[in-house]
Amino acid sequence: MSTETHRELTEEGVEARVGELLGQERFAPPAAFAEGAEITDPELRAKAAEDPVAYWEEQAGKLRWSTPWETALNETDAPFYRWFEGGRVNVSDNCLDRHVEAGNGDRVAYHWHGEEGETRDVTYAQLLEQTARFAGALRELGVQEGDVVGIYLPMIPEVAVAMLACTRIGAVHNVVFGGFSATSVAERMEVSGAKVLVTADGGRRKGKTAPVKPEVDKHFADLDGLQKIVVVKNAGNDVAMQDGRDVWFHEVLDAADPVDPVPLDAEAPMFILYSSGSTAKPKGIQHTTGGYLTGATTSLRQVFDLKPESDVYWCSADVGWITGHSYIVYGPLANGITSVMYEGAPDYPHKGIWWELIEQRKVTKFYTAPTAIRAAMKWGVGHVSGRDLSSLKLLGSVGEPINPKAWLWYWHVVGGERCPVVDTWWQTETGSIVITTLPGVDDAKPGSAGTPLPGYEVKVLDADKGTEVASGEGLLAIPRPWPSMLRTLYQDPDRYRSTYFDRWEKGAAGGEQIPYFVGDSARIDDDGYIWVIGRVDDVINVSGHRLSTAEVESAIVAHPHVAEAAVVAKADDLTGQAIVAYVTLQGDTESTDEVKAEIDAEIADRIGKLARPKRIVWTQDLPKTRSGKIMRRLLRDIAEERDLGDVTTLADPTVVESLQDRWREGA
Ligand code: WTA
Repeated sequence: MSTETHRELTEEGVEARVGELLGQERFAPPAAFAEGAEITDPELRAKAAEDPVAYWEEQAGKLRWSTPWETALNETDAPFYRWFEGGRVNVSDNCLDRHVEAGNGDRVAYHWHGEEGETRDVTYAQLLEQTARFAGALRELGVQEGDVVGIYLPMIPEVAVAMLACTRIGAVHNVVFGGFSATSVAERMEVSGAKVLVTADGGRRKGKTAPVKPEVDKHFADLDGLQKIVVVKNAGNDVAMQDGRDVWFHEVLDAADPVDPVPLDAEAPMFILYSSGSTAKPKGIQHTTGGYLTGATTSLRQVFDLKPESDVYWCSADVGWITGHSYIVYGPLANGITSVMYEGAPDYPHKGIWWELIEQRKVTKFYTAPTAIRAAMKWGVGHVSGRDLSSLKLLGSVGEPINPKAWLWYWHVVGGERCPVVDTWWQTETGSIVITTLPGVDDAKPGSAGTPLPGYEVKVLDADKGTEVASGEGLLAIPRPWPSMLRTLYQDPDRYRSTYFDRWEKGAAGGEQIPYFVGDSARIDDDGYIWVIGRVDDVINVSGHRLSTAEVESAIVAHPHVAEAAVVAKADDLTGQAIVAYVTLQGDTESTDEVKAEIDAEIADRIGKLARPKRIVWTQDLPKTRSGKIMRRLLRDIAEERDLGDVTTLADPTVVESLQDRWREGA
């Protein structure tokens, strides 16, 4: 029986409704939502724009500082900006102590749900207790302010404890996504000079146990700098513990004395997060304490219209990505709200698990990625139909452009046409959401992220001239610094400058500084709404995960029989983009399924399974210019089955014809 709350949905009904809505350009905030919204002032952006620095000071002032700042923004060493200089603040204090002192210690911070149906509620008081103790344990293991601590953990509450404990004593965390391989963890630990790694015995994934610690052991024997490995007992699999190096998380936690939060310089490094760039070497994106916390806290409060007393918020990302940092750990905790944390995959134990959890926990705000929405569409509305999703008040999307069809499905099927859908554009580098719609104020346009949040200026610039495009296509740029921006690339300030501040002249687009080069192309419409098109560098976005073509190529050529490889992105209905690899084998090596499996294994080992190509095309040769440069543009055109246009600059134009044939043959 269909009721208002348990809506019965059919595929035909949904298709018809989505089809009908496809013609609608704008979606105003639903009246019931707008009435209760926190931000209702349509002038907020304009007011913030009058004096953005003062606006950010006002936002930062909502946090608890042990010493107020002297200089809100120091631009003397641009583009190495400094925010809230002279101020002292502690992140874990703001995320935990502050709420417990205010009498909210019994509030649940995380309703954790395990894959096999287990649940664990962790209150703010408990999280504080564990964090303070683990901070003490880290100290006893020799971690000092400024030291790097690696974290390689599944989605369990201990990951938040480990991160918060670092911030409590000023250690710099370096979290590596659980889907990356132990080899890439080792590499990231080495380049960041990590002293301690916090990991788990094993991870659980769709009913199986992934042997995390045993894999880690294979790669960590000769890492000089790494002194200790702390192991969380999670999956219960057998692990060897190396004497003098490996310790159990629960044992060091029990033995340690809790420590108080250390007041840290606002510009003290808070964490590094490696992200793919246009070379094979990942970039260590570095964030600092006061500005990052200000950005993450403010944006979540505004964009998700937070009501700490009543919200149950759920962000389905993994903590190993920036979305997990800002919107599973720091933003939610600093705002003192209750979150759901889910360990598992969206299709385990069944394809309706997310909707079941939303129903069970009465989730009010839900934040996920377009790729997950498209997967749910593919699995069918049968998995959603009949669920009571009436607790939902707002839906968010992040990670890649959301196509209007997926947006409308989300709006109609999940949100019941009552919940604003906010498409949030941002990056690891920006630290927090930059472009979106304020849910109680702005109309949404499906397919467009919206306009910059208050305090931000974002422009679309002509790629070459750097002049502003008022309406049309160009490159995204952020002309003015903002508090949660990256401060540098870890131990590589030159690369920071050349990657982000080398594209345009100082003062381009009317600002006073060199505009920050985002790396995305976008279109801006007559209403100032921004439609992000995609990356303009060699970064591929698979299911919202950032990967670099160069990284995948170097993993492929590591196979002993591969002579050469070129990797490009191809549009994909489900994952947004998919990886296509063109591979030339050495001499008379045959292109067998076995070689393909070995290449896949090489990539899984060096990067992680997520970077395996969707398709490998074997080729005798790659299209190259006379100077030997691989023309990736042509490889993209072949994969997209487009006309190739001018191929006269190629050293051997016949190469592309045979590649087109091979592509069509499915070879
Ligand atoms: C893309 C993820 C369109 C974009 C938070 C950006 C998006 C890159 C959106 C950053 C969106 C992220 N619409 N594109 N709403 N959100 N992107 O560092 O290309 O993993 O540059 O940060 O993802 O990916 P990152």
